[in-house]
Amino acid sequence: MNTSLFFQPLQLGSVTLSNRIVMAPLTRMRAGAGNAPTERNALYYAQRSSAGLIIAEGTAVSQQGQGYPNAPGIYTAEQVAGWRKATDAVHEQGGRIFLQLAHNGRNSHSSFMPDGGAPFAPSPIPPSLPGFTRDAQKVPIEIPRELTAPEIREIVVSFATAARNAIDAGFDGVELQAANSHLIDQFLEDGANQRTDRYGGSVKNRMRFLVEIVEAVSAVTGSQRVSVRLSPFGQYGGIRDSNPMRLFTSVVREMSTYNLAYLHLIEGRGSEIGLADELHADALDNARIFRPEYEGNLISAAAYTPETGHQAIEARYADAIAFGRLFIANPDLVSRIEKGLTLNAYDRSTFYGGDEHGYTDYPIANPSSPREKG
Ligand SMILES: Cc1cc2nc3c(=O)[nH]c(=O)nc-3n(C[C@H](O)[C@H](O)[C@H](O)COP(=O)(O)O)c2cc1C
Repeated sequence: MNTSLFFQPLQLGSVTLSNRIVMAPLTRMRAGAGNAPTERNALYYAQRSSAGLIIAEGTAVSQQGQGYPNAPGIYTAEQVAGWRKATDAVHEQGGRIFLQLAHNGRNSHSSFMPDGGAPFAPSPIPPSLPGFTRDAQKVPIEIPRELTAPEIREIVVSFATAARNAIDAGFDGVELQAANSHLIDQFLEDGANQRTDRYGGSVKNRMRFLVEIVEAVSAVTGSQRVSVRLSPFGQYGGIRDSNPMRLFTSVVREMSTYNLAYLHLIEGRGSEIGLADELHADALDNARIFRPEYEGNLISAAAYTPETGHQAIEARYADAIAFGRLFIANPDLVSRIEKGLTLNAYDRSTFYGGDEHGYTDYPIANPSSPREKG
């Protein structure tokens, strides 16, 4: 299998990647006390530092933005200090690492809210998935509270503060979680946003929250350290839009004007956050569709094999490919791809929560192990 294009360096904003094999953001629910990253989390990322870029897992910009038990945050001094361990460990190995900044919005649960009330959303429309409590109990869906305009402004500011904290923690940049039915996506898509103010209605209005966050975060870090993740045609958590082609064409074009580090698109086939084990032949090919609309670096993700990922770069649909599940199971994915080695299988039962098992104990390949055919 030809893998040579993966090993051409890539300039992403102010960061040079030594290869185009990116580690996708992966929530693993293994942060320590106070949602602060630990030495174990640092080890996990250090093990994967040969990735051209690591995009560290979805990390809450505020307590209100939390939604998963034991997911990390980036809004307290302890969390910043915890993340510093991970960024130092990755940089010591010559790696590059961005942090994904996230707000769960309606996908959260009242047990995470400082006042114990319902979670927040653009409109009081619930997701289709049951939530988790803070102590990991699955619970029925709650009707979210509709954000007021001043509350929206506060959340925009919380993204900017979180970005400042991420830079202080040593990250090379930040990725805004505007995909997978998180709060920004809830504003974008009219199935979740039925507001009648300047944040709802027209595509321009529904994009306003994202645009304000991009501008506020860029003012802190410089736009070359900012990136955005989108999931056009994704349906995770019951998110949907009446005209996704029109919406996402507009969003991609708008993002093209900000001189970002990169745009990160999840393929529709991967909208169930890694539940698809097979490529669906009829899945829309977001990288192919939206590439002509975006001037800048594009990372494509979801259900790629090394082979199909390389083909996407070869066809110029993407500049780099993000791998999720393959990086969970293969800390040395880069060298396995380079040498054509067999890949470890992932164990879905250890994706979320738990200890080092299924986290930092996946084996590194023996360089003399047999080569994969093809
Ligand atoms: C365990 C797990 C956790 C994930 N957490 C996140 C996350 O925090 N943020 C995000 O944008 N996507 C998340 N995703 C989606 C992945 O980034 C990726 O898009 C998806 O796994 C498809 O890529 P793959 O086929 O290479 O695994 C997660 C997926 C899995 C399997």
